[in-house]
Amino acid sequence: MVAICIANNKGGVGKTTTAVNLAAGLARLHQRVLLVDVDGQANATYALTGRVHPVPSLYDVLVGSRKIDTVIWQTNEENVWLVPGDGRLQNADVELAAKAGREWRLARALHGLDYDYIIIDTPPSLGVLTQNALAASHKVLVPISLTEFSLIGIDKLDATIEELREQLDLEDLEIAGVIATFFEDTTTARDTWDILEKKFEGQLLETRIPKNLDLEKAHREHESVLSFAPNSTSGVAYLQLAREVKRLVPARARPYNRRNSNA
Ligand SMILES: Nc1ncnc2c1ncn2[C@@H]1O[C@H](COP(=O)(O)OP(=O)(O)OP(=O)(O)O)[C@@H](O)[C@H]1O
Ligand SMILES: [Mg+2]
Repeated sequence: MVAICIANNKGGVGKTTTAVNLAAGLARLHQRVLLVDVDGQANATYALTGRVHPVPSLYDVLVGSRKIDTVIWQTNEENVWLVPGDGRLQNADVELAAKAGREWRLARALHGLDYDYIIIDTPPSLGVLTQNALAASHKVLVPISLTEFSLIGIDKLDATIEELREQLDLEDLEIAGVIATFFEDTTTARDTWDILEKKFEGQLLETRIPKNLDLEKAHREHESVLSFAPNSTSGVAYLQLAREVKRLVPARARPYNRRNSNA
């Protein structure tokens, strides 16, 4: 069992698309995957089930006292299960602010679950929800879109991860990789790729996710692009990404356990 958080404080860079399709790709490589939607927009929930802001959801686990196994659903993808999010999560930052151990609530809730991979989708902010997601993860995968201005603000994520490592005693929380999304054959995309290669030397994943409309269409059909259009450029790329991630971050044969998870 290994937990991977998909994070970038910047909006619209392909976090949810990557979470959903990486989960589906790993499932095709015979892995059992739990996708956790830690975002009040609940886009991952919609993308794999068609449900809009279902209740109960992860909110009732993080803010209430519901057990997580009562909100684990099957999805339209074989071997992918989902803990849904809903709009109430948008208030969770405020509601959790006064609670002790507030950054550890997700890690505690996941304790003892037995999947090969837990993939956590996060909101485009660095509030308590994203902190919960990072604290619950062994590794972080950062999607960066190869469009103009996409690099502005990336240092903030670096700094937050660094801060959390210190605050929460998470020396082992690592960026597993940076994944380039919205790749297209333009000067801007190629220039941004060159900058990323230098900035994230050794961390930039080989797989690039192309800009491709089938991703959006697959969301609307509530399935992964691997089901909707397996031979599309993005379908091929996300399966390749799953292979790369499986190689870089192999699953461990033991149930979920994160240090300090009893905090
Ligand atoms: N590689 C791609 N090519 C074309 N469209 C894409 C690609 N990746 C994502 N999209 C589309 O771009 C939009 C934003 O993607 P997505 O929702 O995955 O980003 P996000 O980082 O999760 O956004 P947010 O920060 O709001 O959570 C969606 O409509 C999605 O379908
Ligand atoms: Mg999203």
